[in-house]
Amino acid sequence: MRLKWLGHSAVLLTGTKRVMIDPFLTGNPVVKVEPEEREGLDYIAVTHDHRDHLGDAEVLAKANTCPVVAVDDLAVSLQKRGVEGIGMNIGGRVGLNGVSFTMVQAVHSSSLGVPAGFIVEMDGIRVYHAGDTALFSEMSLIGERYRPTVLLLPIDGRYNMDVIDAVRAVELIKPSLAIPFHYNTWPSVAADPWEFKRLAEGISPVTVLSPGEEIVL
Ligand code: NI
Ligand code: MN
Repeated sequence: MRLKWLGHSAVLLTGTKRVMIDPFLTGNPVVKVEPEEREGLDYIAVTHDHRDHLGDAEVLAKANTCPVVAVDDLAVSLQKRGVEGIGMNIGGRVGLNGVSFTMVQAVHSSSLGVPAGFIVEMDGIRVYHAGDTALFSEMSLIGERYRPTVLLLPIDGRYNMDVIDAVRAVELIKPSLAIPFHYNTWPSVAADPWEFKRLAEGISPVTVLSPGEEIVL
């Protein structure tokens, strides 16, 4: 599977299927996305309805005729707008043609339903996209239960955990690889990913990506 960070919390997973998570493209000042990456999507997953996560989900879902996986309340709202919303809730799992979406807790806010993180499993790789969240102790249970291959964590320290708390999250989850995101999109979310790498690398390997950079897992 290939994982490409498009910037902020937008991630594109390409394997058996193409999955985009938190597709905030329009209005995203750091986004790096190719025109063809807006096409051929099989699934979109949205962690919560804040604009910097829901983003272009509706437009992309309609253009690709692809479903959006989200917390039930948000999925129902998307259905009313003509999108195939696939609803679920915290602790649940949806399996779709070789891709499974497990929804896990996030400590944050939202307008519809509750905010969430996703563990997306495809081709034997488990990607834990933490969405927007504070540090919480149950992350250890999530790590133990799902053993993520990759963990994507916000580090901005204003709307989410800061670098120090993100290092604690890595300690609790113990992923095979940690990647910071949701920083330096705007001045209000300024953070130093290299500080995170320096502090977390004794626990799990850390890769700092640039928007538009892709890794093979
Ligand atoms: Ni948010
Ligand atoms: Mn956010």
